[in-house]
Amino acid sequence: MCIVIGRSESSIVTGTRTPTALRAHEGLPDKRPPGVERLSWNPTQYLKFGDLRLRPAIDLLSRVSIESPKHIIDLGCGTGMVSAVLRERWPDARIVGVDGSPEMLAKAREQISGVEWIEADVESWAPDEPPDLIVSNAVLHWLDRHDELIPRLLSTLRAGGVLAIQMPKNFAAPSHTCITHAVNSGPWRELLEPLTRPDPVASPAQYHALLSSSAVAVDVWEIEYYQALEGNSPVVEWTSGTILRPLLNALQDTERTEFLRIYERCIEGAYPQGPGGTTLFPFRRLFLVAQV
Ligand SMILES: C[S@@+](CC[C@H](N)C(=O)[O-])C[C@H]1O[C@@H](n2cnc3c(N)ncnc32)[C@H](O)[C@@H]1O
Repeated sequence: MCIVIGRSESSIVTGTRTPTALRAHEGLPDKRPPGVERLSWNPTQYLKFGDLRLRPAIDLLSRVSIESPKHIIDLGCGTGMVSAVLRERWPDARIVGVDGSPEMLAKAREQISGVEWIEADVESWAPDEPPDLIVSNAVLHWLDRHDELIPRLLSTLRAGGVLAIQMPKNFAAPSHTCITHAVNSGPWRELLEPLTRPDPVASPAQYHALLSSSAVAVDVWEIEYYQALEGNSPVVEWTSGTILRPLLNALQDTERTEFLRIYERCIEGAYPQGPGGTTLFPFRRLFLVAQV
């Protein structure tokens, strides 16, 4: 089940942050999470919830109406789940998957054919020819300075091209606030604090304004997915595949166990397991589609 909170430029919700939120780190000490060169991804952990992670990409692509793009970029392609969908929908297109993680790209190469894979940092990457479509699913929240990055991506597109972005917008939910709680609750605080990620995703209204300055059509919406997860501690399993990774990687075994115990206790209070063993994990995501 999912609830559509708002869709299209006429129904965006009002954000509470100031426009400078797009420049989250300006003038601040560098509190970025480890860069792709320091943050290693575990494809197996990430793919444990492959279906649920793919669904927002399908919803994003359902709003991309471009007919027959010749050159498509899957920006931050990870294990290539979205590249495979793009391949199926546009079999004649040149599809390029770009990612900073050798581990994720290795998995992509192993599973999917007919896609060019490039190891690069999204921050400095530029296409070798103007793409017709850039899709970026669950990636750009790892990067800052969206006020520079997003216009730069738009500017690389061919005329009529489309930029389609999906980012998690769950930073205020217990799945994330429990991380802050666990970070603040042990001797690891000084070590982990610089690795925590302040909410990098601005309001729908701010993205709408940013995109509208150079796009001819802009579509912005949010969806909250009520994800029904099975098994023990499924929310911890979920975040262990993404946002928790840099923190867990930084801790020694004993501290990691203790950190996870504190996090898990906080999570279990917020997302209790239902009588049938299912845990409902609401997860909000922001979608942006812009045509130049
Ligand atoms: C949550 S995964 C999403 C993967 C894929 N788009 C999907 O939907 O399954 C995030 C991916 O973004 C990549 N990533 C994060 N920051 C990056 C950066 N600065 N440059 C390149 N890739 C980056 C990671 O390596 C990872 O594979």
